[in-house]
Amino acid sequence: MASFKTRIKQTSKKRGKVILAIDYNPTSKLESKILKNIKNLNKYLCGLKFNFHVILPLGLKEITQINKVVHRYGLQSIADIKLNDIGNTNKVTVDSLWKMGFDAVIVNPIMGKESLRKLTILAHKKGNGIIALCHMSAPEAKSSYEMNVNLNKSKKQITLYQLFLDWSLSQKVDGIIVGATYPEIIKYCKKKVNGKLNIYSPGIGTQGGNAKKVLSSGTDYLIVGRTILNSKNPIRVAKQLQQLTFDK
Ligand code: XMP
Repeated sequence: MASFKTRIKQTSKKRGKVILAIDYNPTSKLESKILKNIKNLNKYLCGLKFNFHVILPLGLKEITQINKVVHRYGLQSIADIKLNDIGNTNKVTVDSLWKMGFDAVIVNPIMGKESLRKLTILAHKKGNGIIALCHMSAPEAKSSYEMNVNLNKSKKQITLYQLFLDWSLSQKVDGIIVGATYPEIIKYCKKKVNGKLNIYSPGIGTQGGNAKKVLSSGTDYLIVGRTILNSKNPIRVAKQLQQLTFDK
C-alpha cells in the first residue's frame, strides 16, 4: 500500500488540498451529521480531521464505520489528538487509532526526539502518517512556540518551533502543523523543509488566517472547520477553498 503522504497527494491532485475539520459539539445525532457532511462535501476535500472532542463521544463502532465511509469516498482520515506521552502509551494509542481506520495522527513533538522517531517508525510500518505540531494557530502560541531554547551551549539559540521543525525533519515525519495565522513562520518552515515533508495549516477564516496568503506562504494543505461548517452554503465555501488550492 502507498504511504499516507502519497495517498493524500494522489487524492489532492483531483480533489484539491482542503481537509475538513469536522468539529461538532457532542449531540445525539453526531454520527449522522458527520456522515451527511462527508456525503455532501467529499468532492471538494482530500481528507477529514477528527478532533478529540469528536472522537471521544463517538464509540469504536461508530468511528470505524465513519472511517470506512471516508475511505469509500477516497479520502484520508486524520486523528487530531496531539499525542504526547511515554513510548508504551503512544504505541497502544496509535494501535487503536489504526484499528479504527485512521490514516494519520497529529502528535506533539514535546514528547522528545527519540519518542517521535519511534512513533514515526510504528506509523510507517502500517503505511500510516505522523503529523507533528510545530506552531499553533492560537494568538497565545507565540509565547510558547517562539520561546528560546538552548539545549547545547555551543549551539546558537533557537526557538521551540524551530527545534520541533528540526526534529520533524530528522525523524522523517510526514508533515508538520503550522497555524494559518502565522504566515511568516510558514514561509520560514517551507524554506527549511525543502519538499521533504508537507505543511498543514489550520486557522483559516474563523481564526483569522487568510487562505490565499497561507498558500502563497507555502502551506500544502488547508485544514478548515467552522468557516465551511457554519457557513450558509458549505458546498460553495468548500468549492472556493478547493479552487484556491488548484490555482496555487
Ligand atoms: P476551525 O474551525 O478554526 O478549526 O477552522 C480548526 C481545527 O484545527 C484545530 N486546530 C489546530 N490543530 N494545531 C493543531 O494541531 C493548531 O495550531 C491548531 N489550530 C486549530 C482545531 O482544534 C480545529 O479542530
